[in-house]
Amino acid sequence: MLTLRLPLNDPDWETRAADLLDAGKLVAVPTETVYGLAGDATNAKAVASIFEAKGRPSHNPLIVHVADLAMAQRYAEFDRRAVKLSQAFWPGPLTLVAPLHSDTGLADAVTAGGDSLALRCPDGALRQLAERLDRPIAAPSANRSGHVTATTAEHVLADLGGRIAMVIDGGPTRVGVESTILDVRGEASVTLRPGGVSSDALEDVLENPVSTMDAAQTAPAAPGMLESHYAPSKPVILNMLPNDLPAGCTYLGFGGHAVEGHASLSAAGDLGEAAANLFAALRELDGRDSAGIAIAPIPNIGLGEAINNRLKRAAAPRGD
Ligand code: TXA
Ligand code: MG
Repeated sequence: MLTLRLPLNDPDWETRAADLLDAGKLVAVPTETVYGLAGDATNAKAVASIFEAKGRPSHNPLIVHVADLAMAQRYAEFDRRAVKLSQAFWPGPLTLVAPLHSDTGLADAVTAGGDSLALRCPDGALRQLAERLDRPIAAPSANRSGHVTATTAEHVLADLGGRIAMVIDGGPTRVGVESTILDVRGEASVTLRPGGVSSDALEDVLENPVSTMDAAQTAPAAPGMLESHYAPSKPVILNMLPNDLPAGCTYLGFGGHAVEGHASLSAAGDLGEAAANLFAALRELDGRDSAGIAIAPIPNIGLGEAINNRLKRAAAPRGD
């Protein structure tokens, strides 16, 4: 299959992408976080081909993208807290896990047969498509399963070229790390994956603390969050100070921790800039002729939580 690449400023992008989705085909579409591999969430064949194109295990459920709160409420039960959060952060990088309604018409594989649904209203092209089709769109990140997430059309093509019908090229994504996933089924609001919305921002709106889970506890709730993920092919070493850089390794700095002639996530020490650069930097350094990638310490505040979460998994022992 030839994968077409269409720029987001092409006047026909929306019609062409909508027609392909309507026909059950897959289209990679930029969101404010990362590129999504979009398919019609109500079409079982389309959803099956998402899992196939990514090489994704079938027990790992997909996020469903909606045009607005009203569309989300067709598929899952939103309590007052969920409504408040979606009003505060949508469209934006927040995914809410809520109880699935019965007889939604969603393909069973979307939820991996479970009784909860992860819903997100993204900012930009993917939201526009959900609105135009008046249908929810299933979209995992547009990379091969376990690999570094795609934040440019080039990344998408490197991983999925030949496996999907089209990629809409909107340039590098703005946020750069995936959405925050918040489980709002129980009384406590539980972060399953830190992401584009910080815990502080969530707590300001909730006027309550959010709880977090460590990776082991997250296992049954979000299988995709486990162990090795976001993995370059080269070894990754964390919390490295410039003076300790092993011979032959490339340094990925942050702020004042830098090695001349090597790379940096943000020379200014800006966490937003670091998040936006993260996955592109990992992919770029992975392509260099070096023994490994050594990364500076990143403060664990604000977006730093999401960055450290991804880095920990990029450095985790590989499953294969
Ligand atoms: O920013 C994002 O969230 C991007 C863009 C494309 O929207 N999407 C994304 O999808 O990161 P993906 O599939 O790469 O990661 C989604 C994560 C997986 O770890 C999956 O296990 C978890 O969400 N997930 C999906 N449905 C869930 C559910 N019902 N309960 C708990 N976790 C769920
Ligand atoms: Mg992913």
